[in-house]
Amino acid sequence: MLTREQNDLVCRSGPGTPLGKLFRQYWLPLALESDVLDDRPLPVAALHEHFVLFRDEKKRLGLLDMFCVHRGADLSYGRLEAGGLRCLYHGWVYDVNGKCLEQPAEPPGKEFCDRVKQPSYPLQVRGGVVFAYLGEGKPPAFPELDALNAPDEHRFMVRSRERCNWLQGLEGDIDPYHLSFLHLALEGERKALNNSNGGRNYEFFRSGKARMEVERTDFGVRIYAMRDLNEESYIRLSNFVCPNLAIVAAGQENDGYMALWHVPIDDHHHFKYQLFYRASGPVDRAREEPLAEMRWDPHNPERLPNRNSDNRWLQDREQMKNGWYAGIGPSFGLHDNWATEAMGPLFDRSKEHLGHGDRAVVAARRTLLEAMADIDAAKSGGKPLPFRCESQETMRETITEIVVASMISPDKNRYRELFEERQQEARARLQKPA
Ligand code: FES
Ligand SMILES: [Fe+2]
Repeated sequence: MLTREQNDLVCRSGPGTPLGKLFRQYWLPLALESDVLDDRPLPVAALHEHFVLFRDEKKRLGLLDMFCVHRGADLSYGRLEAGGLRCLYHGWVYDVNGKCLEQPAEPPGKEFCDRVKQPSYPLQVRGGVVFAYLGEGKPPAFPELDALNAPDEHRFMVRSRERCNWLQGLEGDIDPYHLSFLHLALEGERKALNNSNGGRNYEFFRSGKARMEVERTDFGVRIYAMRDLNEESYIRLSNFVCPNLAIVAAGQENDGYMALWHVPIDDHHHFKYQLFYRASGPVDRAREEPLAEMRWDPHNPERLPNRNSDNRWLQDREQMKNGWYAGIGPSFGLHDNWATEAMGPLFDRSKEHLGHGDRAVVAARRTLLEAMADIDAAKSGGKPLPFRCESQETMRETITEIVVASMISPDKNRYRELFEERQQEARARLQKPA
């Protein structure tokens, strides 16, 4: 449980808020590369602010504040020409770095042009995702996750727009026990499935005794979630990565993972970037396809998934008898969308009753609260914020601490060894020359 004040701290991300400042210390996904068309600038919203993303004639990407520093016109309506983006109102032109190139109504001489700058932000494009650093000063090392650097066919990305506070979404990702309920396939469906609902896992999901441990780490929180059945256990390792990323097992293969970023739009909406990654080969797109319905298209922004809060997610009571437990179809993403949106746009955590199975959520909130309190000290050379690394070397090292697993272990007490083994594998990969 949080006090109302603490709840506001971890939920509200506008300019000047502690959470807004924390988010601005990290690289954040702001768009998909495929969103940016050559012939038009793209409006982008994040952290209660508005930006414009565009490609100039040389195909360079730029991210600028949306409102023109001259007299505030919306640059996302502008023209792509003259080496940058021209504002429709009085024709000022800015390049991808926000440098003013033209001011047609000003007398000859460049002095005024040189004195104004449209705020601009550093970008990195990885794995088809455009990441931006919205903070001040030098950006930290980019998180070079395998999932972002693998060949395209090893990845499957769905970006959805969720009508609730960002933290509701994130907390669902690091809550391993809801898999035993919300996402469950019942007998009639399970026969056809070859995923974590199938096979023996089901016994553990339904009858295993829950046991959770959490560890605070340099990246955030490591989560060991066990479901014990006699001497065996279904063990799931997942991770909260500060400030807004969850890295969890995808399916049963232990081959790759799912990375989920939640980026606030405002306090009642956020974007969820859900990236499936398979290390050893192409992802099975057919299996992930139910999720595709959730894709948000910035060029058709009002379109909603077929199942949504306006139609009570078309919940089907017949399906709940022997099909899908939740009665809202096969898409895990839509199940999660129900769980996090139906509780309202910003849940008041002073009303909850937390138990053993909520330890990961508690640890993540504590990490966020502490990180917000530590920003200034970190800036002046104190202990770095979790997952904010100055050097690429430290970042690589920190990434090897992030390990996922989803497996039945014959020995329920071997969960820490499981982590060590997985981490050794990750380190060995790191040693190998690329
Ligand atoms: S408001 Fe943009 S050029 Fe005047
Ligand atoms: Fe879920």
